[in-house]
Amino acid sequence: MHNSHSSSDSASELSRSDRLESRDLDVQAVDEIEKLTGRHPGYRRAHAKGTCYQATFQPSGDAAPWTTAPHLQGPQVEALVRFSESSTDPALADLLSPAKGMAVQFRLPEGQVSNLVAVTVPVFFARTPESFMDMLKAVNKARAGNLGIKEIVHQITGHFGEAKESLLSVQRLRPPASYVTNLYYCIHAYLLVNEAGQRQPVKFEWLPEAGVHMLSIKDTTSQPPDYLERELDERLQQQTAAFRLNIILGEEGDPTDDPTTAWPEDRQRIDAGRLVLTAPVPEPEGLVMDPTVLPPQGMELSDDPILNFRRSAYAESWKRRSSEPMDKMDTEPE
Ligand code: HEM
Repeated sequence: MHNSHSSSDSASELSRSDRLESRDLDVQAVDEIEKLTGRHPGYRRAHAKGTCYQATFQPSGDAAPWTTAPHLQGPQVEALVRFSESSTDPALADLLSPAKGMAVQFRLPEGQVSNLVAVTVPVFFARTPESFMDMLKAVNKARAGNLGIKEIVHQITGHFGEAKESLLSVQRLRPPASYVTNLYYCIHAYLLVNEAGQRQPVKFEWLPEAGVHMLSIKDTTSQPPDYLERELDERLQQQTAAFRLNIILGEEGDPTDDPTTAWPEDRQRIDAGRLVLTAPVPEPEGLVMDPTVLPPQGMELSDDPILNFRRSAYAESWKRRSSEPMDKMDTEPE
């Protein structure tokens, strides 16, 4: 039931929501997100600017003892990748949007899909949808009072200790040389389920084969607003670009319900396969990279309240953007 190529199907499924208690909160959350940089009709309410690439994923087979998920066994599957800027403003220059997104949709047999959505920071700033809302409200209030960014961060970390690690990671981010020279983290815990029905808590991350490279300070002065899309399109004319999918195995006591905390560094990692990007493609009609859309078997959602909440928040964003004409003032990638 979590699978569909067409997000209009999945969106209508989502709006039927069996999670009545979160229905109001998702509407409110998207309202608060819209207040950050205003409404941008037709665009995603977060990660508004982005470009899609066609890809293939070749599983290594090393994850098979932990999962029966079809894309983590032997055969190669097709995939779609959308890189994005985290801002809610689609016209913001790449250099000004600190965190980048990498959403991957695996195309499974029989028209099903499975999504993995990642960003360049290892942890999220809010532990629950409620504190996410409270923080956004505080930021919007502070902005209305014209507080500087430092004072806003000070206020947030003063009231919400959980946000500290994430805000520090964002502060440490530097502009990447390329979308494909970043590490990307899926942040949430998931459960892998194997043939015997055993459940293993895991996290996912994407490792760039080209290595991690940031722009030099000198180069940051000369970049066009959409330098990352241009760089990748040019790169793909010469060669492919690839990532390895790492699966991190959680151990006893590692929290599965807290996206604000990373697991210890020494956890075992499995190299689950190789994602190869081949060419830019237009965004398919109705694409929603809902991170709760999983394969029909072999993988389950954890008890992370933010992960579970994202389902209805993304559906709310889709509902709004799909019913609006796109604002032509903004720069949408072709
Ligand atoms: C309370 C938590 C969150 C809320 C309310 C939220 C909200 C949203 C919304 C409304 C969208 C646009 C969806 C669409 O119209 O298709 C979006 C996209 C996105 N979000 Fe989140 N988000 C949350 C947490 C996260 C986390 C933890 C991550 C990190 C993995 C993340 C990464 C992304 C990315 C990469 C996209 C772009 C997906 C694409 O390319 O289509 N979000 N988010």
